[in-house]
Amino acid sequence: MRRIVAYLLAMLTCALLLAGTVVAAPAAQAVTPIETRYAQLGGAGGRLGAATSAEVCGLRAGGCYRNYQGGAIVWSPATGAQPSWGAIRQTWRLFGFENGGLGYPTGPEVCGIRDNGCYQNFQGGAIVWSPATGARATGGSIRGAWARTGYEAGGLGYPTTNEVCGLRGGGCYQNYQGGAIIWSPATGARISVGAIRAAWASTHFENGALGYPVTDESCTASGCDQRFQRGVISWSPGGGARIARDIDVAASLFVVVNKRRQLNPARYVPESLVGVEGHLLRRDAAEKFARLLADARASGIGMVPVSGYRSYDTQTSLYASYVNQYGRDTADLISARPGFSEHQTGLAIDIGNPNGACGLQECFAGTPAGDWAARNAWRYGFIIRYPQGFTSVTGYSYEPWHLRYVGITISSEMRLHGLPTLEHYMSLPAAPSY
Ligand code: DAL
Ligand code: ZN
Repeated sequence: MRRIVAYLLAMLTCALLLAGTVVAAPAAQAVTPIETRYAQLGGAGGRLGAATSAEVCGLRAGGCYRNYQGGAIVWSPATGAQPSWGAIRQTWRLFGFENGGLGYPTGPEVCGIRDNGCYQNFQGGAIVWSPATGARATGGSIRGAWARTGYEAGGLGYPTTNEVCGLRGGGCYQNYQGGAIIWSPATGARISVGAIRAAWASTHFENGALGYPVTDESCTASGCDQRFQRGVISWSPGGGARIARDIDVAASLFVVVNKRRQLNPARYVPESLVGVEGHLLRRDAAEKFARLLADARASGIGMVPVSGYRSYDTQTSLYASYVNQYGRDTADLISARPGFSEHQTGLAIDIGNPNGACGLQECFAGTPAGDWAARNAWRYGFIIRYPQGFTSVTGYSYEPWHLRYVGITISSEMRLHGLPTLEHYMSLPAAPSY
C-alpha cells in the first residue's frame, strides 16, 4: 500500500517538488512495484524476458499486471507483486486468475520440494506442481486434510487431479498419488488410502452402502479402522480389509447396545420378529426363549414374558413416562433412551412371575422365576444383562428380570470365565452415561 501511495504522489507532484523551492522538475521516472519486482527477478535477462504488454490496472481489488515473454507479474495492494509463470500459471488461468477461488498469488513459485516439485501460494489455497503429476490446485477443507498428512512429503504425495465436485450430497474429492481426500458438507474432509480405500471402492464409494467416510483411518499395532456414515471398514495384516455395515452389526447376535453405542440406524427394526405368548423376539432368540419357558414350567417354576421387542417409538414413550414419573437422572438408570435400548434389537426379554411378585424390582432375584433364570438362563443362550454391582459399566441399575440372548457359545464362555457383563466379554469401554 505504501508503495502505491508513494507512486501516485510521485506522479501528481512531478512539477511541485522540493518544499518551498520552485524548480522545473525533470519528468519523474515512476517506479511501480511491478517494475521493482521485475528488476529483482533479473529483468529482461531473467526468466520473464522482455515485456509484451504495458502495465494494466483496474483488476479486482485494485490489482495490476504486466505480461512478459515468460509469464507475468501480478500485483495487488493486499498481496504485493508476484511472478506467475509456467504450468502453475496455466492452472491459475483455468481457475479464472485473480477472479477465481484462488485469488491473487501471495508469494512467488517455490521449487525444490519432493521429487523436484514446486508450489505457489494464493489467497485461496495453493497450486502444486511436480513433473509426474502436473500443476493442481488445492484449497479449503481438502487442503486442510492434505496438510494433516504432511502435504506432498506425507503418504498422499502430490495431487493428481484438481478437486472434482458434484458428488452425492454436494461432495467433492481430490485424488493423490497415494489415495484421495473426500469431502462432503455432512462429513468433512477425510483421507482415503490403501486397502481400506480399495474395500470402500468395492462398495461404490459414497454411492454405496457405507456412504462417505466420517473419520480418517485410525491405526493401532493390530490394524486400522475407518468409520463411514453407515458402517466400518477394518483392516488387519492377517485378515485384510473387512466391511461391517451398521445394519448387519445391529442384526448380529454380537451387537452391543449401551449408552455409548446407539443402534445404527437409530430406528433399526429387526427382521423376522416372532411372537412368544404375545411378546416379539427375533426368530433365533424366540425359539430358545420358548424352550426356556417350557423347561422352567416343567420344573414347577411359573414364569411369564413381560416385555420383548420394543420399537424406537415405544421406547420413546416409555422413557418419557419414566422421566415424567421420576425425573431424568433416575429414568436414565432404569430405562434406555430411544435408539439405545437392547429391547429394540429383538434380543432382549423381561420376565416376571405369573402373580406379578416383585415385577421389575430388584427383589425379583429372590423369587422362584428370578432364581431359576439366574441359574439356568445361560443354558439357553441368555445372560442377565444388567447384573448387580455393575452400574458403572452397564449404566443401569440391577435388572434381574432383563434377559439378553447372545447364543449358547457366549453365554457359556461368560459363565466359564466369570465375565459379568457383555462389555467385559467384548472388551468394550464402560458405558455409565451417554
Ligand atoms: N430397561 C432397559 C435398560 C431398557 O430400557 O432397555
Ligand atoms: Zn428389559
